[in-house]
Amino acid sequence: MDKSRFELRKFVAPEFIIGEKARLLAGRYAKNLGARHVLVVTGPVVYKTGWVTDVTGSLEEEGITYTIFSGVSPNPRDLEVMAGAKLFKESGCDSIVVVGGGSPIDCAKGIGVVFSNEEDILKFEGVDNVRIPPPPLICIPTTAGTGADVSQFAIINDTTRKVKIAIISKKIVPDIALVDPEPLLTLPKELTAHTGMDALTHSVEAYVSNASSPVTDIHALESVQLMNTYLPLAVEHPKKLEWRYQTMLGSLFAGLAFSNASLGAVHAMAHSLGGLSDLPHGECNALLLEHVMEFNYDSCPNRYETIGRALGVETEGLKRDEKKQRILGAVAAMRENLGITVRLGDLGVRKPDLPKLAATAIRDPCLATNPRKATVRDLENIYEKAL
Ligand SMILES: [Fe+2]
Repeated sequence: MDKSRFELRKFVAPEFIIGEKARLLAGRYAKNLGARHVLVVTGPVVYKTGWVTDVTGSLEEEGITYTIFSGVSPNPRDLEVMAGAKLFKESGCDSIVVVGGGSPIDCAKGIGVVFSNEEDILKFEGVDNVRIPPPPLICIPTTAGTGADVSQFAIINDTTRKVKIAIISKKIVPDIALVDPEPLLTLPKELTAHTGMDALTHSVEAYVSNASSPVTDIHALESVQLMNTYLPLAVEHPKKLEWRYQTMLGSLFAGLAFSNASLGAVHAMAHSLGGLSDLPHGECNALLLEHVMEFNYDSCPNRYETIGRALGVETEGLKRDEKKQRILGAVAAMRENLGITVRLGDLGVRKPDLPKLAATAIRDPCLATNPRKATVRDLENIYEKAL
C-alpha cells in the first residue's frame, strides 16, 4: 500500500436529503434555519420551468416571505453576485434558497459571502479567504453534474480580467442540499450530457488527485460507475425518473469526492476557457478529459486502471500501453455516444489563444492537486490536442 494513504485527511459535507420531491422540503428546512425572508436565487431558464414555484410554494406554506433574484447567467459573473448581494440587503433577507444548476448555486454562495463580509466578491479568490460565515444557504440542484450543492467551491467570472476565479472555503459549504431527481425531467439532452461529463470529470480528477483519500475514493469510483451506466440512458430517455435519479446520485458522490480531494488540470484548463470564451463548463471538461488523462497516465497508472474497471474496460493481461489506449478510448467513446463530437476549434478557440489560456490555467488552484506537475508549455500542448 502507498504510504501516502496514511496521511491526514478531512471530509466535509453538508446535510443532504436525496429523493423524489425533496425540493418541497425547502420551506420546512428554511424554517428550521430561522428564515423569515429568503432570497430565492435562480437562472432565467429554470425560473420558467415551474420548479421554482414549487419551492416558493413550500416557503409560503411555512409563512416565509421571499424576494426572487433570477439574474444569473451561465458562468456567473462578479457583477451578478454584487447585484444579488445588494438585493439581499435592500430586501431585508436573512437566508438564501437557490434553485438551479452550478451557476446559480455558485452565485448564491458568492452573494452570501459578499453580504456577510461587505467586500467585493473578487477579494475572496483562493483557499480559505472567507472570514465571516455567510447566511444560511439551501440548495436545490436542477442539473446532475456540478456538485456545487455539496461542495466548498464557488467559481465566479471576473469580467474585467476575463478569468474565472475559484473561491474555496469550508464556510461556503451549503447548510442543506435537497437533491431531487424530478427537476432533471426538463433538462435538455445537451445540458444533461455536458453536466454529466462534468460529474465524470470530478470523479476522475478526485480519484487521481494528490489529496485523495480512502473516503473520497469510494465516492469517486461509485460515481464513475453510476455515470457510465446511467448517463447515456438519461440522455436517451430524458423523462425516465429512475435514470435521472441515478445520475443525480452519481453527481452527488462526485461532488463529495472533489469537494474534499480537489480537482486537477482538466478543471484548471476548463476554468481558463470559460473565463476567456464563456464556453459551457461541462463541455470544456468533456473535450479536455481524455487529453489530460493521457498526459497524467504514467504518473499513476494503477489508479487509471481502477477507473478503467469502473468504466467497464477489460484490461486483464494487456501491456501497460494497450491498457492506457483502451481506457482513454472508453472515455472518448462515452463522450461521443453522448453526442459531444465537436472540438475546441469548432467552438471558436484559435491557436493564438492557447498561450493566454495556458498562462491563466497554470495559476488555477485546481492544478495544485493534479498528479503530474504541468508547465505552461504542457498545458498549451494539451489544449492543442483538443483543438
Ligand atoms: Fe466541474
